Amino acid sequence: MVLEEGYFDRVAEQWDRMRARFFSEAVRERALAVAGVRPGCLAADIGAGTGFMTEGLLDRGLRVVAIEPSAAMRAQMARKFAGAEGLELREGTAEALPLPDASVDYAFANMCLHHVETPPRAIREMARVLRPGGTLVVTDLDEHRFESLLKEHHDRWPGFKREDVARWFREAGLVDVRVECAGEDCCARASAGDIYARVSIFVASGRKPKTGCRGIATT
Ligand SMILES: C[S@@+](CC[C@H](N)C(=O)[O-])C[C@H]1O[C@@H](n2cnc3c(N)ncnc32)[C@H](O)[C@@H]1O
Repeated sequence: MVLEEGYFDRVAEQWDRMRARFFSEAVRERALAVAGVRPGCLAADIGAGTGFMTEGLLDRGLRVVAIEPSAAMRAQMARKFAGAEGLELREGTAEALPLPDASVDYAFANMCLHHVETPPRAIREMARVLRPGGTLVVTDLDEHRFESLLKEHHDRWPGFKREDVARWFREAGLVDVRVECAGEDCCARASAGDIYARVSIFVASGRKPKTGCRGIATT
């Protein structure tokens, strides 16, 4: 695990260009399609960066609360979406979301999970803030061996095994859990040498049950 405080503050101004080289809008389209987003609903964009997911959600008529720990990323986002209706920016992390229980219809985290300290805890938090019937969609990297991604892009985790992600979703109380290929790779060239990292992206989804009913009591 490698972590450098301030990395995302430093790259905030270039993030949109960097992001476009790493992965395309196809990831966002897939995440939105898997969630089946409906206009008028409220979504949380967790680890929002400069608002890649937020943009797609606003375009589809959802309201968004975007949560992001980096002040520079939030500043970029505030500039980019100045005057946009239905958007609120909040400082916070995935492990301690600044949102009440059962307060959003959807939670999205695109390329955020491999940066958080404790992924299962982050998933529990994301499930906590979902309303009953709400949907969590996480898009992130499959497990890989590219040290350049850890060293140069300050990823904490070398992607994830899909079965671990599915288990964390279920342990967080989500149902209808699916983890499948997003149909897109994340690509990054290392600054030295000829290493070109190409890592497949998964889309994980799960729904919060509508009731806490555990069965029918019989006498
Ligand atoms: C790879 S960027 C992705 C940004 C955005 N979701 C996108 O798709 O362009 C990861 C983002 O997660 C944020 N981040 C890092 N640690 C985090 C944490 N513990 N909780 C929430 N977000 C975090 C970073 O500041 C950064 O903006």
